[in-house]
Amino acid sequence: MVRGSVGVIFGETGTFEFKVMVLDSSKVYRGAYVKVWHDASSDEKDHTWVLGQVMAIKRYSDSFSIEEAMKGQRTDKSDDKIVAEIMIIGSRDELGMLRAPVIPFSPGSPIFAADEGLTRSVLGLTGNEMSIGLLEGTNIKVQLSVNSLVQKHCSILAKTGSGKSYTASVLLEELLDHNIPLLILDPHSEYSSLKVEGEGSQEDFSRFGVKPKGYGSNITVYTPANKALNPDADELFRLNGMNLTVNDLTAIFPDNFSTTHTGILYEAIQKVRTELETYTIDDIIFEVGNDKSKAKWIVINALEQIRDTNILSPNPTSIEELFQKGKASVIDFKGVAPELQSMIVASLCSSLFESRKLNRIPPGMLVVEEAHNYAPEKGFSKTTSTDILRTIASEGRKFGLGMMVISQRPARIDKNVLSQCGTQVIMKVTNPNDLKAISKGLEGVTSYVEEELMRLPPGVAMLVSNEIERPVLVDIRIRKSKHGGESVNVLKAARTVTPPPPPEITYNEPEPSTPAPVRREMPPVSVPVAANENATMVDVPVMEVPGKEKDLAPPPKRKPSRAPRNEAGNEAGGKLFKKLFGRTDN
Ligand SMILES: Nc1ncnc2c1ncn2[C@@H]1O[C@H](COP(=O)(O)OP(=O)(O)OP(=O)(O)O)[C@@H](O)[C@H]1O
Ligand SMILES: [Mg+2]
Repeated sequence: MVRGSVGVIFGETGTFEFKVMVLDSSKVYRGAYVKVWHDASSDEKDHTWVLGQVMAIKRYSDSFSIEEAMKGQRTDKSDDKIVAEIMIIGSRDELGMLRAPVIPFSPGSPIFAADEGLTRSVLGLTGNEMSIGLLEGTNIKVQLSVNSLVQKHCSILAKTGSGKSYTASVLLEELLDHNIPLLILDPHSEYSSLKVEGEGSQEDFSRFGVKPKGYGSNITVYTPANKALNPDADELFRLNGMNLTVNDLTAIFPDNFSTTHTGILYEAIQKVRTELETYTIDDIIFEVGNDKSKAKWIVINALEQIRDTNILSPNPTSIEELFQKGKASVIDFKGVAPELQSMIVASLCSSLFESRKLNRIPPGMLVVEEAHNYAPEKGFSKTTSTDILRTIASEGRKFGLGMMVISQRPARIDKNVLSQCGTQVIMKVTNPNDLKAISKGLEGVTSYVEEELMRLPPGVAMLVSNEIERPVLVDIRIRKSKHGGESVNVLKAARTVTPPPPPEITYNEPEPSTPAPVRREMPPVSVPVAANENATMVDVPVMEVPGKEKDLAPPPKRKPSRAPRNEAGNEAGGKLFKKLFGRTDN
């Protein structure tokens, strides 16, 4: 036995695989990396260490037959044989190209546990900026390159509860450590916890070589609702409500808006522009009201619904404020109805892309949680945000705008978006359609990879990237900051005495101070509003899609002057606001 060897090659050998009689089972296990000296060729420049990986492992005994087994338990296990199947990965030549041997290894050659240098160089793990964890079963750090991850986009895919948000946060921490601007679309209020230092055992932190860290002042949480509905938010998020163009409005309208409707809107905006230097959505509504066709009602209805969400403001949140070096802006969609979320995402991402193209903001990354909701695959559903996310996926890299796509349903994300992701971090997936969607988008994914994905333990991810030679398993590192996506312990909650519900939130819009548009007198609101202010609204209402049937109010008369917004209309607007955003008591 050669000193340090962990096995010996035997039997028939090929250029892609061989079998090994295992001598040290603590070093040779499924997934372990091994090396073997290749000197079968007569050409000395081919003599090199070659990296291989254990794909399967079997154990058997010659002496313990079925007859012996029928007799009962076996005490002497000394003649057990362990045989491993090794897949050859290859070696790097002097030009750094991956080469596989062309002449098979000789039976009798010893194999050794692979060292870090060989493993890193052959696998192509040459990034050195973002530490995301350890190569499964080793102490080898897996590091990614910031440029490659951001420019070429990345996806994080796994079934629910498998650690997507956790892994995404690990990547975000690393990006924040490199001052990369981040814009996070957060439907479940999970990412504000990046502010807080993480908890965990000292042993785990030192195993991964990281220290607990909260990103406090680097994180700003914005709410498209208001602070009464989302008290944890730091700032309000508002879209520009002044001098809206047809494009601005069609970007936030659902797709069922026809060319007739767009035409009516176009004419109205043209007219308002000739009359007023600055105009609001109220002015547009008034002008659409003067149209003679019946189709105007659909347009008025859509415009009114958008206006009544209060998402439009004369003091919009600027992209320059959201996207800054070293800052993560979290758009927390808590309590915002799905259609409105999609409108906001469409409008926000369009501005983000345009601003980046014009170099008004630095390069950075857009993070899309639950991406199947914002860019669904055709045939599943339709949303306003799909087009712009598709555009960012295909053109973002030219402008240094990266996208991180996170989803539990890979089969339901737009294929154009998913296929553009150069780095894929995949955790446990069991749904056959999702497995198919993943393997379709990945080159060289074998049935072995699909098998592996179904069996991944918690906290372990498969990393697939253009930069690395083959998929590798990564033990994802512990978070530096606190995890915000903890599951609710249903049993514990049921055993806990429920405190009385908090008092009803009375809506008092705390903004804005600058000259604001006149709000026309509110027509009777068609959705039933709670009869008294203390009534509890249990259901979270969903914003109706413009164009759906609704009692239509006559168009308003334009008022001659622009009074502050805190007027009579606001009260009714507040109730409707609550209806549309839902009430969140938790
Ligand atoms: N690498 C890891 N190390 C330690 N714990 C982890 C790791 N990954 C996930 N977890 C734990 O697993 C649980 C689920 O993780 P996470 O919230 O990220 O799942 P998810 O895939 O985002 O789920 P959902 O589909 O519900 O959004 C968390 O409570 C987290 O603490
Ligand atoms: Mg999650």
